[in-house]
Amino acid sequence: MWRLISLTLAAAILVTSATAALMARSEDLNQSTGVGTHGILWPDTADGADEGDLIPGTEDDLHGGFSSLEGMLQWAIGHSDPAKLKETAKEVRKFSPEELKGRQIELQEFMEKHKLPSDAQLMQIAIDDLKNSSMSLEDRFRALYELLELVEPIDNANDLHKLGGLTVVIGELYHSATEVRALAAEVLGKASQNNPRVQKQVLELGAMAILVKMAKSCSVEEVTKALYAISALVRNNLDGQELFYQEAGYSMLQDILNNSTLDIRLHRKSVSLIADLAECQLGSENREELPIFSNRFFLKSVVDLVLSSDLDLQEKALYAIRNLLLLRSTEGLVFKDFCKLDLLLERMRQQLQQLMVEENHREYAMDVESLRQEVQQTFIQKLDKQATQVPT
Ligand SMILES: *[C@@H]1O[C@H](CO)[C@@H](O)[C@H](O)[C@H]1NC(C)=O
Ligand SMILES: *[C@@H]1O[C@H](CO)[C@@H](O)[C@H](O)[C@H]1NC(C)=O
Ligand SMILES: *[C@@H]1O[C@H](CO)[C@@H](O)[C@H](O)[C@H]1NC(C)=O
Repeated sequence: MWRLISLTLAAAILVTSATAALMARSEDLNQSTGVGTHGILWPDTADGADEGDLIPGTEDDLHGGFSSLEGMLQWAIGHSDPAKLKETAKEVRKFSPEELKGRQIELQEFMEKHKLPSDAQLMQIAIDDLKNSSMSLEDRFRALYELLELVEPIDNANDLHKLGGLTVVIGELYHSATEVRALAAEVLGKASQNNPRVQKQVLELGAMAILVKMAKSCSVEEVTKALYAISALVRNNLDGQELFYQEAGYSMLQDILNNSTLDIRLHRKSVSLIADLAECQLGSENREELPIFSNRFFLKSVVDLVLSSDLDLQEKALYAIRNLLLLRSTEGLVFKDFCKLDLLLERMRQQLQQLMVEENHREYAMDVESLRQEVQQTFIQKLDKQATQVPT
């Protein structure tokens, strides 16, 4: 019933230019930041893989909190013809920010007058749909997609569990269709990003085990989204890191890094995750560091990436190595004798020198070189420090 009423009203809203104006704004936002246009269009599985980047702070800075109004619009937009909407959005891009604001207020008044559903109600509709086992695959996907948009504001993310949403979305991680599993993981990732409360709830509901399993899938899309969710759950969260370790998450990462036939984006995401994990351990003076960091095979799988032909991956590997070197439990001699870090860094230096000759690579190569030097210094300091320590 709700759905029918809301749809009619949503359709009414969509013909107002205020909607289009808002969309234009959200599209501009997406273009300027290089994020996919999923605020307007359904996700395209091909470039969806770049969603949920594991680099700290990217996603959240972009969409810092949609109002309830926008949540509604996202929902309405999900039910409309994307091509048409995009066309309208283009037409109204000429509006000034003041005009847009004015229209936004008009729209808000319109919504209040017509008693449009709140975000909580919209989330409830989507959750109820997911609970309905006779729902078609397409409708299931749509319901998850609505939740993905709706959990963007932190207040909505905080409400998700209360409405029964987390349990239902975690249930979808076991769905037989890959795309449904991947999208469910993305919803969890988005809801728990920088949100300790939701992180805790998701972890308590036992999602880590299945997410680690998903990250071993053959589908790049599924692995990407699983890694996104995992990284949102372990970020600044030592309990999450502990669980990740217990579920053999590190050996999953190692398998990805050691498999050269896999998509390079998965290598990049995995090594960024390792850099994050090590960084978080660095900040936790009072806790024992995870035993994985004294595993030389694990360290070698990261160090080996220094010789990758992908400069971006090399750079991410350097960050990870630097953080690993700074940990108390890693041993300088393992990096030297087993991982051959000094040789690899020297090879990298030569490679970068060559790149610097090429005009279009020079600046980036210089940045990476300065990071490489930092790693080298950290390495030497660690060797010196550990050489002077009396073995116990
Ligand atoms: C479940 O979904 C089916 C198919 O969309 C629909 O016909 C049915 O009314 C739904 N049941 C409930 C309880 O919403
Ligand atoms: C590497 O990944 C491919 C694609 O997922 C998989 O088929 C293959 O078994 C993996 N190789 C190893 C050694 O794990
Ligand atoms: C990585 O893969 C190679 C061959 O594909 C294998 O010999 C090696 O033991 C693997 N290393 C790890 C750490 O799993």
